[in-house]
Amino acid sequence: MNQENIVAPLLAWYDQNKRHLPWREEIHPYKTWVSEIMLQQTRVDQAIDYFNRFMKRLPTIQDLANVDMDTLLKLWEGLGYYNRARNMKKMAEIVVRDYQGIIPSSYEEITKLPGIGAYTAGAILSIAYNKKIPCVDGNVLRVITRVTLDYSDIAKEDTKEKIKNELIPLLPDRVGDFNQALMELGALVCLPNTIPKCDICPLKNACLAYKEGKQELLPVKSSKTTKRKEKRTVFVLIYQDQVLLQKRDEKGLLASLYELPNILGHLSKKEVKAYLETQGYQIKSLQKGPSIKHIFSHLEWDLTSYIITLKEKSDGIWMHLEEKEKYSLPTAFKNILKGVKDEKR
Ligand code: ADE
Ligand code: SF4
Repeated sequence: MNQENIVAPLLAWYDQNKRHLPWREEIHPYKTWVSEIMLQQTRVDQAIDYFNRFMKRLPTIQDLANVDMDTLLKLWEGLGYYNRARNMKKMAEIVVRDYQGIIPSSYEEITKLPGIGAYTAGAILSIAYNKKIPCVDGNVLRVITRVTLDYSDIAKEDTKEKIKNELIPLLPDRVGDFNQALMELGALVCLPNTIPKCDICPLKNACLAYKEGKQELLPVKSSKTTKRKEKRTVFVLIYQDQVLLQKRDEKGLLASLYELPNILGHLSKKEVKAYLETQGYQIKSLQKGPSIKHIFSHLEWDLTSYIITLKEKSDGIWMHLEEKEKYSLPTAFKNILKGVKDEKR
């Protein structure tokens, strides 16, 4: 790659076109860290509100170290991949205890902390500490494989490593801006799954894929193993204006969050009735509720639901339908409740 027709045009483009985002207003390692963790699996437009709420409630790393898990999970509710939040709290505790609350600025040390991989380390060190370290996410892989007409499989670690090494000699003094500019270009111009906007791209003079008309063939990405599919039946058990919740296991998928009671398999109305009766519920009415699909990284839930009103209140955690702020409920269950809201009880 030719430094001259990449670095300067890209930085100039970034200065003119970058989005004004809350974590870009005033650079602070804590803010960079929180935003980069959120952005790993969340779109920028969705992350903004979460970021602002998070900073308001937990303005310092000490606040994060001291917050209780339920409050933290509530702040994270809807973002998914909840281990990110759990790892952040662990990391905050370590940073407060061992580093006087200052996130370490060496690659060696920072990558030892929970939840910090090569990408996040590169992002924090380059953006917040101005260290000349590349930072390669999906956007950067797409831009660089197109610019260099590289048909390597971007799902492979080797490819990421190679692209990192190609970027190192290019890194300018404004390394944080450069890294963000590559990601920003990938998000705004060098688009995935559609036609990239090459006509307005600052790299079009450098870009080999553009020159050859091969943009849409890149990047090459082998597909991962197929997702496991799981059918579940969800019970929306209602007594007056309350719905029954249970807390999930402390380990595994959606650990420690709340959920609507559910079991494996798609049950018929008759089977649901029989099952709930064996569990000791006194059914007043039973009707089909919404069905939804929910996709996790390695698993797909195919959920069907039933709305059951009860004659008597059972033991358990009863949530008033209007007090959802109290419990962190995964999006899949929230979506089912949304569908139920207007049903007659
Ligand atoms: N995606 C993840 N982090 C980003 C950043 N700092 N700028 C633009 N896009 C991003
Ligand atoms: Fe991407 Fe087109 Fe720009 Fe090349 S010219 S980097 S393919 S947007």
